[in-house]
Amino acid sequence: MRAPHIWIGVMLLVVLGNGEPAAYGQPGADPSQARIEKGKKVFVKHCAGCHGAEGKGDGYKLLGADPANLTASATKKKSDALLLNTIHEGKSSMPSWKVRLSEQDSRDVLAYIRTLSR
Ligand code: HEC
Repeated sequence: MRAPHIWIGVMLLVVLGNGEPAAYGQPGADPSQARIEKGKKVFVKHCAGCHGAEGKGDGYKLLGADPANLTASATKKKSDALLLNTIHEGKSSMPSWKVRLSEQDSRDVLAYIRTLSR
């Protein structure tokens, strides 16, 4: 019987899918602030474990490269394109996120990261 597999698939889609309604375009909402807020949620959920709650790279360390200090000027100086590429493709012990995060989520989390180095 195949049906249970289908339901597991549906449940995964509900859990992993973009269930959150976008805050963009709501009356009075600053879209860029809404994106940063969204990015913060993504960061806390997926990135803070390694990069630390404030992005200082003080989360848990795997064997290999230490998680980057995202507040450092070295990161600040890098282009959006370069950092998005690292988020998409991963780098040494940084996992690849392109299958887990939508393009918008990746951009939102980068917008949030940009606020950390201020
Ligand atoms: C398993 C631990 C781990 C997780 C989870 C993780 N990272 Fe990383 N990240 C790393 C490591 C390690 C590096 C440094 C890689 C290197 O330079 O070799 C890094 C580097 C980066 C860089 C590049 C910084 C620079 O200056 O080049 C960015 C941007 C980044 N991570 C963003 C994220 C985002 C966004 C998430 C969540 C979606 C995330 N990371 C989740 C471990 C992690």
